Amino acid sequence: MSRAVRILIVEDRPDDVELLLDELRRSDFAPEWDSVQSEPAFVQRLQQEWDVILADYKVPGLEAPRVLQLVKEHSLDVPVIVLSGVVGEETVWECLKHGATDYLMKDRLTRLGSAVTQAIEKRDAERALQLSRQKAEENRRRLEARQQYAQKLESLGILAGGVAHEFNNLLTVIIGNVSLALAELHPDSSLYENLRQVEIAANRAAELTSQMLSFSGKGILQTTSFNLSELVEDSIDLLKSFVVSDKVAIHTELAGGLPEMQADPEQIRQILINLCANASEACMEAKGGGEIAIRTAIVARNQIPSTALSPDELFEEEYFLLEIKDNGLGMAPEMLPKVFDPFFTTKFPGRGLGLAAVLGIVRSHRGAVHIDSQRNVGTTVDVFIPVRQRESRR
Ligand SMILES: Nc1ncnc2c1ncn2[C@@H]1O[C@H](COP(=O)(O)OP(=O)(O)OP(=O)(O)O)[C@@H](O)[C@H]1O
Ligand SMILES: [Mg+2]
Repeated sequence: MSRAVRILIVEDRPDDVELLLDELRRSDFAPEWDSVQSEPAFVQRLQQEWDVILADYKVPGLEAPRVLQLVKEHSLDVPVIVLSGVVGEETVWECLKHGATDYLMKDRLTRLGSAVTQAIEKRDAERALQLSRQKAEENRRRLEARQQYAQKLESLGILAGGVAHEFNNLLTVIIGNVSLALAELHPDSSLYENLRQVEIAANRAAELTSQMLSFSGKGILQTTSFNLSELVEDSIDLLKSFVVSDKVAIHTELAGGLPEMQADPEQIRQILINLCANASEACMEAKGGGEIAIRTAIVARNQIPSTALSPDELFEEEYFLLEIKDNGLGMAPEMLPKVFDPFFTTKFPGRGLGLAAVLGIVRSHRGAVHIDSQRNVGTTVDVFIPVRQRESRR
């Protein structure tokens, strides 16, 4: 069967065009072709896709070196085969140096078929090579970015962990002494309200340091077995009373019969609280109301998106999914890479610790987290925590 090939011929003599086409057909090609003899016509045809350009060396005003130059200027990888009558070796060399794929004498056209085949094969091989180079480069860049991000988190974690630890010790002293002083004071005392304010602020600071400890992965994990869906169910009242605005509705889709989760339930609850707080705030910012959907499920490892933040390797076959989805404000794509950074916030008064703490907790459980968000549509945060095969199946 003849092979289809798209050929652009640069030639000013119609007879020679016919000769070329005859030769191609003899070599089992079915050429789809066009011919030109001026520079504007050639440039215009370059908008189309061609497999090969056959260029007569001496077309007045459009000689082969000019053809090669124009192909280069248009950044095209279409092979150019130069044809001519008798010319010197130097001319042949000149054309090859300027990018011609091959050079044929017009009185020896029998080689045309194989020259076209080779030119196309060479182009395909170069394209494949280029593609694999691009892929390798992309992989390298992605890996490098991931490593840099991990290093950044690591050093921020050490810093945050150190500061939080020191503050925790100081706050324990402050909170302990304030509550002793409050117990001694009569509520009518003029100092009572001042001390109450100190107590409130100190408790708030303790909450902050605990988020920082979570982010640093230095929080102490109190791992037990529990049922994730039940934990969510039991937290709904707390969410409705203290976390989610009453203008925002909460829906749940909680999987029944889940295996036991081996994790720190208070930390998992912290994830739920931080994500629901963000979801509620996003809904309120967007339209002063909205919906949050909380879902639990089991997913296979290969269902975790490759763009999720995760350890280099996910070891378990299955993962618990805790998904918090809102139809709030959403985020612009350029914001997504920054949201887990500690102290990144777009809110006033935001602290930018909610997602950093979520990431810390996920990392200390060797899980993964993924955010999908679209401006003015909403945000879905998926948290994946490993199902520990041996311990959890009963
Ligand atoms: N569900 C969401 N929808 C839209 N934007 C979000 C959502 N979750 C997080 N963000 C964006 O990510 C930023 C960081 O979130 P993060 O929870 O870490 O900090 P924060 O909410 O600003 O402060 P806080 O420490 O009180 O949680 C937010 O300021 C917000 O811009
Ligand atoms: Mg938050």
